[in-house]
Amino acid sequence: MIDQILRKVKEKFKNYPKRLNHTLNVYHLALSIAKVHGIDEEKVAIASLWHDYAKHDDIEIIEQHCSSYIKSKYQKLPFVLHGYAAANILKKEFEIKDFAILQAISSHVIGVLNMTCVGKVLFISDFCAEDKAKSQEKDEIIKLAYESLNVAYKKALVLKSRLFKKTAQDFSLIKELIKVMEDFKVNDLAVYDFLGTNAFYDYFIICSVNPRTAKAISNYIHVNFKEFLKHVENSPGWVLIDCNDVIIHLFSKENREFYNLDQRLSNTKKIK
Ligand SMILES: [Fe+2]
Ligand SMILES: [Fe+2]
Repeated sequence: MIDQILRKVKEKFKNYPKRLNHTLNVYHLALSIAKVHGIDEEKVAIASLWHDYAKHDDIEIIEQHCSSYIKSKYQKLPFVLHGYAAANILKKEFEIKDFAILQAISSHVIGVLNMTCVGKVLFISDFCAEDKAKSQEKDEIIKLAYESLNVAYKKALVLKSRLFKKTAQDFSLIKELIKVMEDFKVNDLAVYDFLGTNAFYDYFIICSVNPRTAKAISNYIHVNFKEFLKHVENSPGWVLIDCNDVIIHLFSKENREFYNLDQRLSNTKKIK
């Protein structure tokens, strides 16, 4: 069964390497937590491998797999629905009726209070997986998960709900980051939109700055966007800040001209 599921997931994400990588990270972390607590490893394996199966499906398809109650409940948070859709597809395709597996998958995005251990393991692993934005709080949750699953789950719920509040209020990472660039008065700001055309990122922000401003922006993002920050690469005249779906390139004037990313992206949709 696990092999079959893994094969289907690999096939489904063959054009989404980032998603497959995330899924496998979640799977490995979830299994290692489950082992320590003696939680059913087969259930955890199935739930973790399948949890994002519907993530890249069109919203119309996702909605077809959700009841009208669920659709109206999450009308303002449609990204929650991919969990419900994935659970429904698993139920249909593999005839899996196990409550713990289905609840873990359907509720993996924002969690529920009466979550089973399988669901708690998945929720924590999904939120803290290696490929997601790092934070000290997440590292602590992983450590805690090996000691007390309940305490770790509650902490993960609280931390994630902070992110969701922003999302619920129409938080837009790209808009916020553009505003940061404008506030720092960067030169020649350009924003390229890869939405739906690239599996690795959604936007590129490119601008020219002096070294002092580059450092100031980098520090600002470290403090204010730490939930999104994946990593920063510092080379002379080029600072790359990876905020998961948004990649920021801070160039010196000379390197901007030398690498000429703008020219290479001339066929990409430009939103600024
Ligand atoms: Fe998900
Ligand atoms: Fe996920």
